[in-house]
Amino acid sequence: MIASDVILPNATLGILGGGQLGRMFVVAARTMGYQVTVLDPDPDSPAAQLANTHIQAEYTDQAALDKLAETCAAITTEFENVPATVLEYLAKFLPVRPSGAVVAITQDRIREKNFLQSNGFKTARFAIIEKSQQVATAVQHTGLPAVLKLSRLGYDGKGQKMVHTLREAQQAYQDFGAQPAVLEELVAIKMEISIILVRSADGSMSTYPPSENIHRNGILDIGIVPARIAPALTEVATQAAQHIADKLQYCGVMAVEFFLTQAGELLVNEIAPRPHNSGHFTLDACTTSQFEQQVRSLCGLPLGDVTVCQPSVMVNILGDLWEGDLWHEKNVPDWTKVLRHPHAKLHLYGKQEARAGRKMGHYTCVGENMKDVLTLALKIQNELTSIR
Ligand SMILES: Nc1ncnc2c1ncn2[C@@H]1O[C@H](COP(=O)(O)OP(=O)(O)O)[C@@H](O)[C@H]1O
Ligand SMILES: [Mg+2]
Repeated sequence: MIASDVILPNATLGILGGGQLGRMFVVAARTMGYQVTVLDPDPDSPAAQLANTHIQAEYTDQAALDKLAETCAAITTEFENVPATVLEYLAKFLPVRPSGAVVAITQDRIREKNFLQSNGFKTARFAIIEKSQQVATAVQHTGLPAVLKLSRLGYDGKGQKMVHTLREAQQAYQDFGAQPAVLEELVAIKMEISIILVRSADGSMSTYPPSENIHRNGILDIGIVPARIAPALTEVATQAAQHIADKLQYCGVMAVEFFLTQAGELLVNEIAPRPHNSGHFTLDACTTSQFEQQVRSLCGLPLGDVTVCQPSVMVNILGDLWEGDLWHEKNVPDWTKVLRHPHAKLHLYGKQEARAGRKMGHYTCVGENMKDVLTLALKIQNELTSIR
């Protein structure tokens, strides 16, 4: 049964943020017959390129927010750093999923860690630093080496620094502008995994199998699905992610990142209140993508089937692959190295400026058995990164 207050195709959905996650939301929504309005200050954002309407303004622009409220049927976000107050303001007029209250927790590492700890979820040992006098006690608590992380606005390893001595910790805290931060023990990581789930306003949930995530320089490099872990561990991670979503009364797509330690412990690293890079496999390997789930949960539709049809390996394409002058013909990676393989799916985000570490696209390899899929994915990566 579909409830009577669902939002049906041809309605306009609003999304805050115009990056690649927004772009893939736009594709999913428009495929299903919705109209999409993107709010993003960038004149040429990846999502706005494909949206019906682009409101080019800051996230706090009052006139822009009022226009969204007037013209949209519901609002979502692709970006956890949208001010939570903006989401709360919009929620006075129309459904906003996920809510400002939830985004407020997940956009602030201190609040996120406190939420996890007070609800009994295991995390790396951590200490909160809000003034420089707290650095020494924090170091005592976590031990060294440790990782200093800014509480707000970090992503892809930015706003983080590994420290080996108290002096380095103090210096890093000052270098980050003495802003509120979290100091974490350096975890001996055996594997990183993530769980993507979608939860409806009525509490129903669908959960994808875990992705095994390999990072390079703090940025996701490769995602392998299903993760090569024991079924019992998958079960523990799945339950933890679902429990987190329930505790938050979450509505929308959410990702939970975990560290599996060398000692076999599963620790929650962080929560993303949106679709996640490690969930891109769902576009090519699943019945329903994480972006269609975002549309469905936003519109009050029943959730889609999360069956994974084939093993997959996703590889990120970073701006490092371009050399010098962007889009100058000789500097563009040779996409035929991906496109010539029938089992490789190329996704490019339409970004006009390549920078080191910037996510420009990804490809996903799918196939009957993981060994072959992984071999193909690594072969393509090797070819793309080799000197042309
Ligand atoms: N305490 C830690 N111990 C070991 N490695 C870490 C730790 N914290 C972060 N990392 C590494 O850095 C990556 C990025 O850190 P994360 O906290 O997920 O920030 P973000 O993804 O927002 O940049 C992690 O995926 C992991 O590889
Ligand atoms: Mg992370």
